[in-house]
This record gives sequence, C-alpha cells and structure tokens, in this order.
Amino acid sequence: MAEPQDRQLISLADYERAAARALDPEALGYFAGGAADEITMRDNESSWARLAIRPRVLVGVEERHPGVTLLGQPRPHPLIVAPMAFQRLAHPEGEIAIARAAAATGTIMTLATLGTTSVPALAQAQPDATRWFQLYVFSDRGVTRELVAEAVENGYEALVITVDLPVVGRRERELRAPPRAQPHAVWSALAPDGPMTPMEFARLVDPSLTWDDIAQFAAAQPLPVIVKGILTAEDAIRAAQHGARGIVVSNHGGRQLDTVLPGAEALAPIVDAVGDSLEVIADGGIRRGTDVLKALALGARAVMIGRPVLWGLCVDGADGARGVLEILLQELDLALALAGAPTPAALDRSFVARAPWVGQQA
Ligand SMILES: Cc1cc2nc3c(=O)[nH]c(=O)nc-3n(C[C@H](O)[C@H](O)[C@H](O)COP(=O)(O)O)c2cc1C
Repeated sequence: MAEPQDRQLISLADYERAAARALDPEALGYFAGGAADEITMRDNESSWARLAIRPRVLVGVEERHPGVTLLGQPRPHPLIVAPMAFQRLAHPEGEIAIARAAAATGTIMTLATLGTTSVPALAQAQPDATRWFQLYVFSDRGVTRELVAEAVENGYEALVITVDLPVVGRRERELRAPPRAQPHAVWSALAPDGPMTPMEFARLVDPSLTWDDIAQFAAAQPLPVIVKGILTAEDAIRAAQHGARGIVVSNHGGRQLDTVLPGAEALAPIVDAVGDSLEVIADGGIRRGTDVLKALALGARAVMIGRPVLWGLCVDGADGARGVLEILLQELDLALALAGAPTPAALDRSFVARAPWVGQQA
C-alpha cells in the first residue's frame, strides 16, 4: 500500500499516480481500463477541458455554498460516489471505507450490485451514509427482486438501474489479466464455486431488458428510479415517460461502447429535451472542481465520481477516499468563487463556451 505521508497528494492526479504504483496489475487493469482503444475513456476527461469558463467578476463571492437539491432533498454539495464493482480489490475495507468517506463529506454513496460488501452489511457498518443502490437486472429475476427488497429494507434511498450493460464491453486489459473477486451482494444467491471475474458476472445480466421493465421497477417498489447510462435526448425522454425520477448521463466511464459521446457533449441537448421532467446527473472523467462547475453550468444537478475515489481508497482506505472528495470540494468552492457564481443555482450555460484551444491539443 502507498504511504500517503511520504507523498504530496494535492490533486486527484496525485492519487491516481500513487494508486498505480500500489495496485497489482489485475486490479489496476480492471479499475483503470476502458473498452477497446479507450478513446471514449480518454475523451471523457479531455471533453471537460474542451469547455472554457466565462467567469464573472464583482458579484460578491464572500458567501458561497455548493448546496443542491436532489430527489427533493437538500444536499450539501453535488458530489455522488459512482457505483463501482469489486472495491475490495483496492483495499480490504472496500465499500465500507468508501461509505465512511462519503458520510464524513456529505457525499451520497452508490453501492454496486457487484459490490464486495452486501446490501445489509454496508447499511449496518455505515448507517449515517446516504446510500443509493445500483441495480444490474439479472436474467434470474428472483435474485434481482431480492436485491431490491434488501435495498428498500436497509434504508437505501434510490434505485440506480444501469442500462448500458446489456452485454459487457470489450475491455482488453481485463482480457489480458482478469481480476477475481467475490461480490457479496449476489454471492449467497448465486453460490458459484469460487471467485469470479467481472466478465463472468456480467454474463448474468439480462440482455432482454426493455423500457417496460423500467416502468415496472418504478411502479413495483417505493424507491425513486434513476436510469444510468443515457447518452441521447431520445432515451432521456423515454426514461421520463417510463417513470424514472432521474437519469445519469454516462458512458460507464468509457468501459462499454468505445467512441460514444462523452457526458460533456451529451449533457446540454438532454437537459434541453427533458426540462423539469427528470433530474439529470452527469459522470465520466470529472477530475477537477472546474469539471464539476462545467457540468452544473450545462444543467446537471449533481455529478458522479468514479475512479478517483478508488485511487483514494487504494492509497489510504477511508482517509484516502475522503481526501479525494475533499480536494474536489475545495476545488469546486474555488471554481465557484473565481467564476463569480456563489452557488450552483447561479450557474447557467452562459458560464461555459467552446474552448478556443480545441484542435490545438493532442
Ligand atoms: C472499476 C469500475 C467498476 C465499475 N462498476 C460499475 C458497476 O458495477 N455498475 C455501474 O453502473 N457502473 C460501474 N462503473 C461505472 C461508474 O459507475 C461510472 O459511470 C464511471 O466510472 C464514471 O467515470 P470516471 O471513472 O471517469 O469518473 C464502474 C467503473 C469503474 C471504473
């Protein structure tokens, strides 16, 4: 494990480098990798840099607050930990450490179906964390129903149904060095012979899922449904029509279909199409407070943070994950101050423009 006291960890990129030194090749390939040529994965990060901020001055930014409203609840800021499978590959405490970091920073934690901590175990370990549950709908609908019932019973506050993985993307780093783990959330129901790879688990996902299933999930249980993995206005409108309360504009961190749109490009047309009928969350490649500000300016209510939280977890457990979230929050506060928008509500699309340096960067 890396020793944080020996290193200067002042940006998310510092955590990424420290984690890359500490992780074994299987775990690093699984966490860091994307689909095929990883064009979308890289573009997720550079797409935020293609937007320039149009700052305003002399608006009085002494009092600032990053608070937002999400699913009708006030939240202290717009950060959410994205659902990510197999977290114990990064640290023995896995999801529990990330939930502790989330609770300490007022961040929502999304537990993945393929989490290495069970739905009730996370709730018992971190009752104070606001928890959402990410659902992969398995062909075995009995297992799926049980997971949803557990999430409801254990105080999870939203059901994030991931729809961009009817089949798993071609992740070449994983093909070369497959990691293995025991996702506890589904372990008891499936009882496989031994630890499985993410690709083996992904084969359990039902590729026949359609919008009618989303409507059924929205009607059959009490949690608000958030559909994760939307990239077009057409699908965003369908999500609203089928009972979703929100969507995550996401390409799964570039891990599914390579060369699809990054969130920074997909977001504005979707926000325009859905208006107030849906709450829009963005993810993918958010590494700086300025990236968060740009997503909010384009109309997202909140953002999910993926890999950087795993880097923090790997480097220093719960403290490392908290360090990552705190850096992003400090950077967001700075960005709001220097852009002249003391709250997210003050942001609108006039705060961003296509950057003049587009086409001049590699
Ligand atoms: C290691 C890893 C595992 C992931 N597992 C899941 C998952 O089980 N379910 C899901 O909906 N998304 C999963 N994702 C996608 C994230 O929720 C999120 O969309 C993406 O990581 C955001 O991009 P970023 O990592 O660039 O911040 C995973 C991402 C990573 C990096």
